[in-house]
Amino acid sequence: MINNNDFHSENEHLIHELDQVKNIAQAKERLCMLHVAEMDELYDVLKKQVKDLQAAHFANQKIFMATIETLALTLEAKDIYTQGHSSRVAEYAVSLANKLGVDKTFTEQARLAASLHDLGKIGITEKVLNKPGTLTDLEFKLIKSHPITAVKILTPLELTYDILPFIKHHHERYDGNGYPDRLKGENIPFGARLIAIADSFDAMTSDRPYRKALTIEIALSEIEKGAGTQFDYELAHKWINLF
Ligand SMILES: [Fe+2]
Repeated sequence: MINNNDFHSENEHLIHELDQVKNIAQAKERLCMLHVAEMDELYDVLKKQVKDLQAAHFANQKIFMATIETLALTLEAKDIYTQGHSSRVAEYAVSLANKLGVDKTFTEQARLAASLHDLGKIGITEKVLNKPGTLTDLEFKLIKSHPITAVKILTPLELTYDILPFIKHHHERYDGNGYPDRLKGENIPFGARLIAIADSFDAMTSDRPYRKALTIEIALSEIEKGAGTQFDYELAHKWINLF
């Protein structure tokens, strides 16, 4: 049987243990709060560093893109027949994108891809590019390699904007008879279908060494003829409706 003294001592012991537990809990809580405060501070520092890095990356990308766009312009400058082609195709691509009401990111993707769509021609001589007669198989193969060459040039830059599919497929045809992959219909990236129209329209309305520029009316009727075969039917008509 437990006497009063034992009971009192047992209670004292329990109270003492409870106090100890309470002290430990309070210490842990303080430690926790300290950690939370430290974590908050660390999180803010990291967040700022990530933001700074993103800003630096974005600035680098802009410099990269400006450099590459300059390269594309330099490439065109040596040939009076292609001078301004990429800039005009970019301008047309933006007009069509605006007409479609797509978001700003897509419009910027389309503009950049259009500016750089023929970058891969850098490795082809003007003699071949401007050849008036029929191309040999080898020359045609060389011309057809330019979308892939552009992708090879641009891939190591790890661009922020995903423009490579637009560039790679700007010579695909809606009916599947284009190049390099003979993609058909909606399998062709939307941006590439859009650039194909802008590109063809500018090519038709510009002088070439082997023919004079077509009038806007004739070029538009050619786009209409190609709607659904060479070009995306709906996009072609949206383009025609811009005039
Ligand atoms: Fe091209």
